[in-house]
Amino acid sequence: MKTLIFATNNKHKLQEVSQLLEGVVIIKSLEEMGLDGEIPETSDTLQGNSLQKAQWVWDRTHTDCFADDTGLEVEALDGRPGVYSARYAGEHCSFDDNVNKMLHEMEGKTNRKACFRTVITLMENGVPRYFEGRVDGQILTERYGKEGFGYDPIFMPDRFAVSFAEMPLEVKNRISHRGKAVAQLVDYLRNNK
Ligand code: IMP
Repeated sequence: MKTLIFATNNKHKLQEVSQLLEGVVIIKSLEEMGLDGEIPETSDTLQGNSLQKAQWVWDRTHTDCFADDTGLEVEALDGRPGVYSARYAGEHCSFDDNVNKMLHEMEGKTNRKACFRTVITLMENGVPRYFEGRVDGQILTERYGKEGFGYDPIFMPDRFAVSFAEMPLEVKNRISHRGKAVAQLVDYLRNNK
């Protein structure tokens, strides 16, 4: 089976994606590869950031790898925080800080439409290929649930009555931005063995 390094230090993402790629490829984490240090994310697009992360790993290992970058785009905030979702409440802020800021900025807003978008870059032999996923939903007015990470407690996907943080991982993976992008990656990997 093919081995791919996943360019993330986020344990939640690693768990989500490992479940989706089970039996398709062997995933190695940065930790397992002994790679540490801050991966750059200085682009102003999701595709640019995900390419930057995959390129960072490729340059150091010359091993096939992939990276993802995700943004939460909120209609009432003109698409913010988008590509800046990780640093929404400032450099080195926590998931909690970001959620608090979002709840505050959305106070009193009736249009609560939002979407998560993910771009995955697969780097094979140094050549990038992109996969995208999107999920639409609403920003809730308070936190619900303990699962997941990031903005999960305040995001309710369309056609569901619970937040991402109230769902078992299998359900989130079936409908989420990252789940959809990984499903395309899986299709590609299965058809190009
Ligand atoms: P990243 O740059 O792709 O790691 O993600 C940008 C920001 O979006 C981070 O603050 C994450 O917490 C958040 N984020 C990414 N994926 C998800 C998700 O599946 N649920 C909730 N928040 C997420």
